[in-house]
Amino acid sequence: GPAGLTVQKVGGRLGAVISGVRLGGDLAPETVAAVRAALLTHKVVFFHGQQHLDEESHEAFGRLLGSPVAHPTVPSGDGRYALRIDSDYGGRANQWHTDVTFVPAYPAFSILRALVVPPYGGNTIWANTATAYSALPAPLRTLAESLRAEHSNDYDYAALRPDALPEQLEHYREVFTSTKFRTEHPVVRVHPETGERVLLLGNFVQRIVGLTGRDSRALLELFQRYVESPENTVRWQWQVGDVAIWDNRATQHYGVDDSDDHARRLRRVTVDGDVPVGVDG
Ligand code: SIN
Repeated sequence: GPAGLTVQKVGGRLGAVISGVRLGGDLAPETVAAVRAALLTHKVVFFHGQQHLDEESHEAFGRLLGSPVAHPTVPSGDGRYALRIDSDYGGRANQWHTDVTFVPAYPAFSILRALVVPPYGGNTIWANTATAYSALPAPLRTLAESLRAEHSNDYDYAALRPDALPEQLEHYREVFTSTKFRTEHPVVRVHPETGERVLLLGNFVQRIVGLTGRDSRALLELFQRYVESPENTVRWQWQVGDVAIWDNRATQHYGVDDSDDHARRLRRVTVDGDVPVGVDG
């Protein structure tokens, strides 16, 4: 293939493994272009054998895709941009979401690197939000295009983690919602690079603007069903040294919390995106 790398699809709707690339800040421009093209086509791309990466070279690679941005509330792993997702610090992402949609210009790409993987479980699942949109029957597409949704980081940790101790709940609240963010996005976004229409929903959505709580929940469940349908997803079993990069404008993902007390440590660098535009511009 181009730039000496090979791209092998691993799912029907999204996902491909890229081989023949050693990731870092020093990739040739044609390799970066080939990785980016595969990322836009396949939405999530996977690399094996990237154990050589550290926080610095992970971030340097991120710079080839955009400007790294720190998480708005969670302290970073390296004091710069890398976010720690560690089971031993309660790091769990077992809700369907798109990263950081509670800010206006949420990240374009996330780059996740596996340092420690559990002996079983702890997979991550991604869903294609462009094919979710195009699978909607025409009347539902028209309805979705007319809607906006309110996104915020103000969610209920007691509901999400019923087993957590009161001090753990207090910790989650401090880390995740110390600063409250709230923004509105169109429910159908036009992807700025591919022109595809995507469903922009996920766990940070609080409600559909203008609807009652009950109507809002019913519609969100209806649309989200098209995102989460198993045929619309790809599932990845992590090995040490794996890297996944996803187009955060065209996917949702879910970290499966089924490794019991085994350690699982990942590092995530995200690069900035732009303010979503709906179908009417
Ligand atoms: C994330 O939401 O970025 C992390 C997903 C995971 O922990 O599998």
